[in-house]
Amino acid sequence: MSNSTSSSTRGVAGDVDPLTGMEAARMGLYLHFPYCLARCPYCDFAVAIRREVPGAAYADAVIGELELRCVAEPSLGGRTLQSVFIGGGTPSLWDPADLERVLGHVRARFGVLPGAEVSLEGNPEVADAARFAGYVAAGVNRLSLGVQSFHAPTLRALGRAHTPEDAARAVAAAQQAGASVVSVDLIYGAPGQGVEEVRADARRAVALGVAHVSAYALTVEREVLAADTPFSKRQARGALCAADEALSVEMAHALAEELESAGLQRYEVSNFARPGHHSRHNALYWTGGEYLAAGVGATGMVGGRRFSNERNAERYLQRVGRGELPEAEVEVLSGEERFHERLAMGLRLRTGLSLAAACRAYGVDPAPRLEEATRLVAGGFAQWEGERLRLTPRGLDLHGEVVARLL
Ligand SMILES: C[S@@+](CC[C@H](N)C(=O)[O-])C[C@H]1O[C@@H](n2cnc3c(N)ncnc32)[C@H](O)[C@@H]1O
Ligand code: SF4
Repeated sequence: MSNSTSSSTRGVAGDVDPLTGMEAARMGLYLHFPYCLARCPYCDFAVAIRREVPGAAYADAVIGELELRCVAEPSLGGRTLQSVFIGGGTPSLWDPADLERVLGHVRARFGVLPGAEVSLEGNPEVADAARFAGYVAAGVNRLSLGVQSFHAPTLRALGRAHTPEDAARAVAAAQQAGASVVSVDLIYGAPGQGVEEVRADARRAVALGVAHVSAYALTVEREVLAADTPFSKRQARGALCAADEALSVEMAHALAEELESAGLQRYEVSNFARPGHHSRHNALYWTGGEYLAAGVGATGMVGGRRFSNERNAERYLQRVGRGELPEAEVEVLSGEERFHERLAMGLRLRTGLSLAAACRAYGVDPAPRLEEATRLVAGGFAQWEGERLRLTPRGLDLHGEVVARLL
């Protein structure tokens, strides 16, 4: 790995986000746990299906990869992590003792900010208070549960292994275990789902007392997914009746209305939180921070160098076992590419971004962008808040098109 984290390449955003109060020169760590008990028919994440999860061997491999990264890039060890996110796959299949070992190594190898956010994703069918208490004892303070829906027919349509009752029990278990923030993921636009059902899902999440909700439109098309899925194949045959674009937008509005009226603010296109409970790790992605990553299929971005790891779990274990960095792809992004990413991510936030500061940070000419921004404001797609440009609800519905006009 090249020595790419000089101080001149850190702090990529040139901007302090008013929502999080966080500035650009910060880094988080994403750890991917790939194992699941079954594959959901819509999922294209880097997943390995196992009845018995090799959790201890996987913990060794992740520790091994972090070591290899620190050897290849010695300055990494001097960096302070502001957040750690353990995503999956199904990280709640990891034995808490294995996770504790990995997090202990992370603390020994890097600076970890006191009070750093440490999130773990869990599936409702593998969720009990003792397991969650083990994660909390290991340092996890935010539990994010893949509920998707509180309706049995929708959970069946999505091929999920849990019931609505499991989902409610998992939320209660996470709260009982003492996680500072409990979040749920919801999916809308699933086959057979209606707007009223989605509203009821939002109300149920609120009634269970969660502080954070992520609500995602079901993604089906192969063009946006990394791999074919049973759903994308059914869609290609015309045999999947998921929501069309118009219904999906209606559902997004209904969800936002329910969650916002209950005090969960929509701080990002797909994310809602009670004040102070937004995801600090995800804010790294939205506000131009850097993220180190380890594990099967994990993607990291440090100093403009983006890497993605091997997506096959066996090959990942073998490569780390041979003392090899398990990278599958590496790209060094140009200033223009980083500007594009910063713009696309920043405009997902309610607080938007400082367009001028982002142009300065990546050496991009601000004049044509500021002119285009003025046109977007006149058209009702965006508005200025001081020097920050943010999208209106109408602009958010057309996020991709608006970003393309500012490039
Ligand atoms: C990668 S999953 C990991 C969490 C956990 N394994 C689960 O499924 O409950 C994280 C979240 O991504 C969302 N997700 C996964 N695949 C999706 C898709 N094709 N479309 C929309 N959301 C998706 C789900 O809401 C899920 O909870
Ligand atoms: S449980 Fe989550 S990560 Fe695993 S296959 Fe299903 S959606 Fe994908």
